[in-house]
Amino acid sequence: MHIEFTLNGKAVSVDVSEEMTLLRCLREVLGLTGTKSGCESGDCGACSVLLNGKLTKSCLLEMPLVAGKEVITIEGVHAPDGGPGIMQQAFLDHGAAQCGFCTPGMILAGEALLMRNPSPSREEIRRAISGNLCRCSGYTQIIDAIEDAAQKRLVKTK
Ligand code: FES
Ligand code: FES
Repeated sequence: MHIEFTLNGKAVSVDVSEEMTLLRCLREVLGLTGTKSGCESGDCGACSVLLNGKLTKSCLLEMPLVAGKEVITIEGVHAPDGGPGIMQQAFLDHGAAQCGFCTPGMILAGEALLMRNPSPSREEIRRAISGNLCRCSGYTQIIDAIEDAAQKRLVKTK
C-alpha cells in the first residue's frame, strides 16, 4: 500500500505491505538505521521515535497507522548546523552513551519529555525513560544528561 507521512520535517511516500512496521520501514526501506532494532516486541525502547510528538515504539506500529502523521527519528534532532543537538551533546558530555544501542531511543525519550515538561525533576526523568532499557550505564548518566539538556534549553530560551 501507498503511505504518505512527514519524516524529520520532510514529506515522504513509501509503498509497503500493510504489516510492515515503522521500524522496518525506517531501516529497510528508507535507510535510516539510527532507530535501533532490539526486541521487536515493545519491551526495550531501542526503536523509539516521536509520532506527532509522542514517544512511540516503532516496532509495534504498523505502517497504516503512520499515514498522515509526523515522525521524528534520531536523524531529525541534530542542531541546525548539522552538529549534535543540545540533548545529543549532553549525552556526550555525561558519558551517557556507552555501547550506544539504547541511545537514540533514550534521546528521543528525553526530547518527548522536554516537549511536555521543560523543567522535569529527576524522578520525572526516571519515569520518562522507564520504557527504555540500557544495559551499560546504570541510568544515572542518562538522567544527568537529560537534566543538563533541560537546563541548557531553559537558559537558551531566556
Ligand atoms: S525494538 Fe521496539 S521496543 Fe524493543
Ligand atoms: S549505552 Fe549500551 S545499552 Fe545503553
